[in-house]
Amino acid sequence: MAKGELLRSTPRGRFGNRLSRKVKSLEETGKPQPIVLIGFMGSGKTTVGKRLAELIGVPFVDTDSLVEERAGVSIAEIFTTKGEQSFRKLETAALAVALQLSAAVISVGGGVPAQPENAPLLAGHTIVYVEVPLEVVKARTEGDTSRPLLLHPDLASLYEARCQTYAAMATVAVDAAVGDAEAVARRIADRLHLVV
Ligand code: S3P
Repeated sequence: MAKGELLRSTPRGRFGNRLSRKVKSLEETGKPQPIVLIGFMGSGKTTVGKRLAELIGVPFVDTDSLVEERAGVSIAEIFTTKGEQSFRKLETAALAVALQLSAAVISVGGGVPAQPENAPLLAGHTIVYVEVPLEVVKARTEGDTSRPLLLHPDLASLYEARCQTYAAMATVAVDAAVGDAEAVARRIADRLHLVV
């Protein structure tokens, strides 16, 4: 498969029949498709996504960066001055822009899959769940002040609920607690049968 010519082959995974249906529709369209990375804050979506994009020779987009670029202020500032709901609207708009790209790796904020209004935008796309345990999230995000939801009063419940959503939505789930970004990116490429 040529670089940039994504996902004409059949990904495997624990999601069985649902996955086969998805892949069939990609084969029918025959067009390059974006790969969307989902997962909890601190799972490494952005670092892994950049590496994966390099490996397969497509652009990388991060919805958080897109929101900040378009708003001209940081996410923390949007939460403080305008509230979470305003952020979610900006995030949905950024997601729609990112998904216009035919071939790309798109890392989305941890809350994207949990917002019902994003479901129709994500439907039919190849979605990779970048999976890490909560202890890893906590260790990786210690002292981080850029993510307002790390201050959630019940982070463990938020994590549990989010992970169920991620697993239900994913085409494949990849363990991102083991190995560096390069190893995880290669694992994703392998699971999606992308030639690198
Ligand atoms: C959020 C995750 C963050 C960012 C915002 C809200 C969430 O993105 O979008 O702080 O709701 O989980 P990352 O998952 O890239 O940290």
